[in-house]
Amino acid sequence: MQTDVLSEVSSRTAERPAAGTDADKRRELGQFLTPAPVARFMASLFSTWDRDVHLLDAGAGAGALTMAFVRHFCQRRYRPERISLTAFEIDPALMPLLRRTLAQCEKECREAGIEFSAIVLNENFIEAATSMVSRDQFTGNPLRFNMAIVNPPYRKIRGDSGERRLLHQVGIETSNLYTGFVTLIGRLLTEGGELVGITPRSFCNGPYFKAFRAEFLQTMALKRLHVFESRTAAFRQDRVLQENVIFHAVKGGTKPDHVIISSSSGQPGGQVSERVVGYEDLVDPEDAEQFIHLTTNADQARARLAIGRLSASLSELDLSVSTGRVVDFRAREFLRGHPEPGTAPLVYPCHFDGHFVRWPKENSRKPNAIVCSAITRELLVPAGVYVLVKRFSPKEEPRRIVACIWDSSLVPAVLVGFENHLNYFHVNGRGMPMPLARGLAGFLNSTVLDVYFRQFNGHTQVNATDLRNLKYPTKAQLEHIGNSIPASALLQKDLDAIVEEELF
Ligand SMILES: C[S@@+](CC[C@H](N)C(=O)[O-])C[C@H]1O[C@@H](n2cnc3c(N)ncnc32)[C@H](O)[C@@H]1O
Repeated sequence: MQTDVLSEVSSRTAERPAAGTDADKRRELGQFLTPAPVARFMASLFSTWDRDVHLLDAGAGAGALTMAFVRHFCQRRYRPERISLTAFEIDPALMPLLRRTLAQCEKECREAGIEFSAIVLNENFIEAATSMVSRDQFTGNPLRFNMAIVNPPYRKIRGDSGERRLLHQVGIETSNLYTGFVTLIGRLLTEGGELVGITPRSFCNGPYFKAFRAEFLQTMALKRLHVFESRTAAFRQDRVLQENVIFHAVKGGTKPDHVIISSSSGQPGGQVSERVVGYEDLVDPEDAEQFIHLTTNADQARARLAIGRLSASLSELDLSVSTGRVVDFRAREFLRGHPEPGTAPLVYPCHFDGHFVRWPKENSRKPNAIVCSAITRELLVPAGVYVLVKRFSPKEEPRRIVACIWDSSLVPAVLVGFENHLNYFHVNGRGMPMPLARGLAGFLNSTVLDVYFRQFNGHTQVNATDLRNLKYPTKAQLEHIGNSIPASALLQKDLDAIVEEELF
C-alpha cells in the first residue's frame, strides 16, 4: 500500500501535465524527478540513529525523496522522535504536489509515533543557502541539518549569472548548479551529518570539477557509491542523457578504510553488483586532481591497476595534445569539397578508417580540403605523422577513445588541417616518428585503456585535457608496441594482446 503512494508521487510528477511546467521550463529548472525505486534505495543508505532528525531537501520537486526518507525511517525498528524538514523548491507549480506529499509524510509519521514538521520554502536555494552560509561564517551560528537528501538540478551556470556571483561570494567556484547545491548542502550539515545524493557522475573527474572535489573530499567522507550503467537508466521517463551516481557521504575529515561501490543497469529487476574497495583505490591521495575512480567490476580493477602503474606524462614523452584548430563554420569560405591546387587536406572524424586516416573521402558530406592562405595558415600544421583522437564518442560506441594516424607520406601535401571535432598529438606543433605514433595509437585504442577511461569519464566527450591528464607507457614501451603492430589490419583482440603484454 505504502509503495503505491510512493510510486504515485513519482509517476504523477514525471507526467505532470496539469500542474505542470512545460518541457523548456523543466529543462531550465533541471527538473528530472526521482523514480520511486531510486528514491527508496537512496533513503535506505542513511546509517545513523539520531533522535532528532533535521532534514534538508534542496530542490524538493514534488517531494519524492522526502517521502521515501520518511517512509524508511517510519519502518525502522529504532525510530527518531522527530523529523523536522526544510524543503526548498523554486517552482510554484510544484507547491500543491509537494504539500500533498508532505501531508502524507505527516500522516505516516503520526502513525509510526514520530513527530513531523515541515518548512516549505518556495525560494531559490542558492540565494537562501549562500546567505545562510555567510551569516553562519559571520555570527558563528550552529549549523542546521544533520541529514540531507538531494537530487539537485543540473544545468550549466554562466559566468555572469547571479547564481555564479552568489556562489563566488561564499568562495564556491563552480560552473554547474548541481555542484553548487552539493557544496552548499555540505556546508550546512553538522559534523557527522549525512548526505545522500543522486547527481551526474561528471564531478568524479575532469578539470571543471577540480575545485568542487577539493572541498567535497576534504570535508566529507564518501561511504557508498552506486553507478547506473546506462545513461538513460535512472531517469528513463525524462530522457536524461547523463550517467548518474548515487552517493552517501558523511561530514567530517575521517575517511573510512573501505568504500562500497555498486552498480546496476537501472532496468527494473536488473542485477546489482557490488565491490568493496580501499578508500585509497577510490581516491588516490597522491593524485593532485583527486579523481574519484568508480571501479565496479574485476576488469575495471585490473585496468585501473595496469594504467595506474604507468608513470610517463605527455611532457615526459615530449608530446602535446591539442584540439583541432579548424572550426568549420567559422572557416566556411575556405572549405572545399575536393582537393584542388592551393588547398591542404582537411581531416574530420569521418576520415578515420581503422588505424590510418583514409583521405580524401569520396561522396563525403564533409569538405576534404581547406584553402591555404595567410588567413588560414595558423589553422594548419606542417606535414608529418600525427595521432588523432575523436572528441565525441557516446558510451554505446565500442570504444570511448578512438585513435587514428595521419601519415603525410601517403598524401603529397606540405600542410594539413585537423577539424575541431578531433584532438591531435604532436611534438611542438609538428609530427612524430612513425613507431611512436603506431604505439601511441595502439595504446589509445586498447581495451584496457577504454575500460579504465570509462570509469571516470561519464560524458560523451574526450577532451584534450582528459588525454593530457592520462599517464602513458614510456617512449620505449610505446615504440615497442608500435613495432609489434603488423602493417596489415589487426583485430581488437590481437591489438589488446600486444598492448597487455607490454603493460602487465
Ligand atoms: C532534479 S529535480 C529533483 C526533484 C526532486 N527532489 C526529486 O528528486 O524528484 C530538481 C528540482 O530542483 C528545483 N530547482 C531548480 N533550481 C532551483 C533553485 N535554484 N532553488 C530551488 N529549487 C530549484 C527544480 O524545480 C526541480 O524540482
